[in-house]
Amino acid sequence: MDSPQVEIRRATEDDLPGMEWEGEFRHFRRLYRAAFLDACQGRKTILLAKSDGVIVGQLIVQFGTDLACLPRPELTGYLYSFRVREGFRGRGVGSQLIETAEAALRERDYQQAAIAAAKVNPRARRLYERLGYSVVGEDPGQWSYLDDRGIVRNIAEPAHILAKGL
Ligand SMILES: CC(C)(COP(=O)(O)OP(=O)(O)OC[C@H]1O[C@@H](n2cnc3c(N)ncnc32)[C@H](O)[C@@H]1OP(=O)(O)O)[C@@H](O)C(=O)NCCC(=O)NCCS
Repeated sequence: MDSPQVEIRRATEDDLPGMEWEGEFRHFRRLYRAAFLDACQGRKTILLAKSDGVIVGQLIVQFGTDLACLPRPELTGYLYSFRVREGFRGRGVGSQLIETAEAALRERDYQQAAIAAAKVNPRARRLYERLGYSVVGEDPGQWSYLDDRGIVRNIAEPAHILAKGL
């Protein structure tokens, strides 16, 4: 299938509402704003795939990680919050986002990229392996966040951690 015409670029503050899509990801509002503030400080980059001005995919890059299973975590970029809209999946948009993230890490002399694949998501793992990542460990995937209404949400999503040398 043809690759859709998408443009990959860094998020601006004006993009934050669009990252909630049509409300499906409203619960992450505070996380996205915090990630944007981190991006302003140079600690993260938010990459968006846009088609006709609409956000159809996203990936956040964190410069440095504290994942215990990785050697040299301070030289590792951690990729997360990765998704592509359903009608755009399977056409290379996700791969383009990951490749752009890797380029951003190389530019900053990071030596490794890492990403988590939920154990219940073998298709995502297959994509990462195809892009050169391999499993280096596991993570219980337990974390919490405050949703848009200020309610604590607890997540438990056991994951494989995959990494790739850059
Ligand atoms: C994973 C995801 C971001 C990949 O984006 P994409 O644009 O479809 O990726 P590409 O077109 O570059 O690569 C296609 C590969 O992605 C993976 N993929 C496709 N649809 C997927 C889905 N619904 N869920 C998980 N992985 C999927 C498959 O490995 C696929 O290869 P295949 O067609 O040979 O099975 C996208 O499918 C998605 O948003 N999935 C739902 C959310 C998710 O699983 N995020 C990852 C969290 S670890």
